[in-house]
Parts: sequence; structure tokens; C-alpha cells
Amino acid sequence: DVIDVRALGASGYFTFDPGFMATGSCESAITFIDGAKGVLLHRGYPIEELARDADYLEVCHMLLHGEAPNAEEYKEFKATITRHTMVHEQINMFFHGFRNDAHPMAMLCGTVGALSSFYHSDLDVSNPEQRVRSAHRLIAKMPTLVAMCYKYNVGQPFVYPRNDLSYAENFLNMMFSVPAEDYKISPAVARAMDRIFTLHADHEQNASTSTVRLAGSSGANPYACIAAGVASLWGPAHGGANEACLNMLEEIGSVDRIPEFIERAKDKNDPFRLMGFGHRVYKNHDPRATVMRESCHEVLNELEVKDPLLEVAMELERIALEDPYFKEKKLFPNVDFYSGIVLKAIGIPTNMFTCIFALSRTVGWISHWHEMLSQPGQKIGRPRQLYTGETERKYNPIEK
Ligand code: ACO
Repeated sequence: DVIDVRALGASGYFTFDPGFMATGSCESAITFIDGAKGVLLHRGYPIEELARDADYLEVCHMLLHGEAPNAEEYKEFKATITRHTMVHEQINMFFHGFRNDAHPMAMLCGTVGALSSFYHSDLDVSNPEQRVRSAHRLIAKMPTLVAMCYKYNVGQPFVYPRNDLSYAENFLNMMFSVPAEDYKISPAVARAMDRIFTLHADHEQNASTSTVRLAGSSGANPYACIAAGVASLWGPAHGGANEACLNMLEEIGSVDRIPEFIERAKDKNDPFRLMGFGHRVYKNHDPRATVMRESCHEVLNELEVKDPLLEVAMELERIALEDPYFKEKKLFPNVDFYSGIVLKAIGIPTNMFTCIFALSRTVGWISHWHEMLSQPGQKIGRPRQLYTGETERKYNPIEK
């Protein structure tokens, strides 16, 4: 049920809703979520069907352009994206300004924002065609930038994009190829990577998407807005959860220590939370987690990974799902619980997980940004506040 309170603002009243538990900030035709039923639809298509039958670029097309592409449109869209995969050579220099042990999200935040210094015509956000061009650039360049963050961390030369590969294969190739040896891309790994991209592509008005919309509502350029989205995603309550989840599994270390951590998660005096569990909107199950769980088992079997951490993860999932506290609070593993495990099995280091989330979510962010700027009568986002400070008082000059 929706109560339209816009008229209240004009009459001097406002609603108070920290955390936006009951505030709709916009109208949007991109993604539908029914948290109680565990439903997620992009442009009306169920996420389960998209994860099974579509590839990430098809999902990008439908999010940005509104419709699933036909074969001809898909070919054209793919060609457009691959045409934009390179970044300007001077972007390399930005990387050399970072410490080599910089967190990849720190580098990503900076370099995405720096794209605004290269594409001057994209600074004019009033032109819809130009906005679509900048969206294409961002979707195409994010894998290149994310792989560069990794290569810079490990001290290997950057690998240029290859346009003969699929979106996911190209990303894996830029991550793992070295001059002496091309990375051998397993179809199962490429499929899992593509699925991770698809499952993270959009999720309506989450913290980072709302950040992008708010930044964009002032007319800021798309690269600056996406840098704001990357910053918001970084936090452990949002995109940082997959990294925090793997760090937590490492801290737990062995199956016999799981009950101790479950008890800590229940203790109100302990700030510890089971990372990768719970969701603001899904209070039954996270449909993305169901698909990711399948993918997770598929990849672990295919790669024959034997990792004690994965054993801890599977046992933690089993014990937490049976625990009365988690049942009562409706806490289930979310998509990041399983995506972290898959990424680890593929060989992606933990500190890169949130960058991969950012790469995947870029299409969602930019689609919302473009939708917002296409809506007639779009207003700058400007929430009100409940002031709790001093009442008016006299200022005494410092010399007195
Ligand atoms: N472990 C233990 N207890 C939890 C957890 C958890 N992971 N999540 C929520 N709870 C408890 C809270 O302590 C609270 O208990 P109370 O009612 O006794 O006060 C209750 O469940 C409700 O929690 P809230 O924080 O009010 O729920 P909210 O909807 O605001 O938070 C959130 C959702 C932030 C995702 C939370 O569940 C959490 O911190 N999870 C861990 C981090 C995580 O995995 N984030 C990823 C989100 S998914 C994504 O970004 C793709």
C-alpha cells in the first residue's frame, strides 16, 4: 500500500523515516521485488529464468533499454560494448599513483570517477543519446578497470581486453592471463562468473543505487555518480558483505567453532553478525541465493575444490538454518554468502569480491540514473531532517 505524501512538503510537514524503511524515493519500471514471497523480476522477467537461460549482456540490454534483445539487437549491443572495453592509456598512470597494496575498491572508486576527465561530451547529461553512450562505456570499461586493480595489486602487467571472448571470459582473461601464459577458461567457471554478474545486476533502490540516483539528481556526470555508487557499495552491510563473509569464515576456521560464532551472533551485547545472512527486503528467502547456491555446488564439483573454508561455509549454512533465533528473525543466507564461496573457488582473492559486485551492479546503477533523468519533472533529491541540536543562542566573539 502506498501513501502519497508529496503534498505534505508544500504545507511544511514532512515524514520522519531514518533508514528509509517506509519511503519510496522514486517511480521505476526496471526491477520488481516482493520480499515476502522472495520474488525478483527484471523488466518483468524472473531472475531464476534469467540466470538459467540468459547471459549477462542480455540482462544489461533489458535493464538499460527496457526489452530483452532479439538476436540482431544482441549482436549489435555486444559489438557496441566490446568497442568500448579499452581505457585510455593515461588511466594506467592513475594506477601508478596508488600504493601497490591499496584496497582495490579504493582504486576503483578513484579511477571510475577519473573517467569523467576523459569523456568531456558525457558531462552533458541532458542528451539521452549521450547518456546511453556513457552507459555503454561504463558497462564496457568496468571489467577492464577491475582487472587492472587486481593486476596492480599483484604486480603483474595489465592485460588488454579481448573482443573475441564473451563478457565473462574476457574478464577472467584480463584477471588471470600473464604474458607467458594465456589463462585457460573453463566453461563452468565462465558460466559461474556470468551468473554472478547477472545475479548482482540490479536490485532496485538499495543503498548504492539510491546513492547514484541522489548524486545524479543534481545533474552530476555519470562517472562521478558511479564512483559514488562504488563508495556506498563498499560498506560491509552492503556489497562489502561478501568479503566480510569470507573473512568471517576464515576467523571461524573449523567446523567445531561454528556454535561459538552462532552464539555470538545471537548475543545482543556483541556487535558481531553472521555476514552473508539477512536482508532488508527478503524476509523469506533471497531468490538470488537459491540460484547462487546451485551454481556454488556445480563449481565446487567441477573444479574438485577441497577447501576447509568451504566445508565451514556449508556447515554454517546448515546449522544457522536450523537455529530458532535465525528462524524467528527470518535470517537466511543472502546471495553474497554463496557468491563469495564461488569467487574463492575460482581463485579470486577476497579483497576483490566487492569490486566484482560493483562491476556487475554498474548496469543497474546507470540504468536507474538514465531512467531518472528521462522522467519529466525530475527533482533534485533533498531529504529533510529532525533537528536535535541547540536552540538559537547568542554568539560571543572569541576575544570575549
Ligand atoms: N546476524 C545476526 N543477527 C542479525 C543479522 C545477522 N547477519 N542480521 C540481522 N540480525 C538481527 C538484528 O540483530 C536484529 O535483531 P533485533 O530485532 O533483536 O534487534 C534483527 O535481526 C533485524 O536486523 P536489522 O539490522 O534491523 O535488519 P535490517 O533489515 O536493517 O538489516 C542487513 C539487513 C543490513 C542486511 C543485516 O541483516 C546484516 O547486517 N546482515 C549482515 C551483512 C550482510 O550480509 N549484508 C549483505 C546484504 S545483501 C547485499 O547487499 C547484496
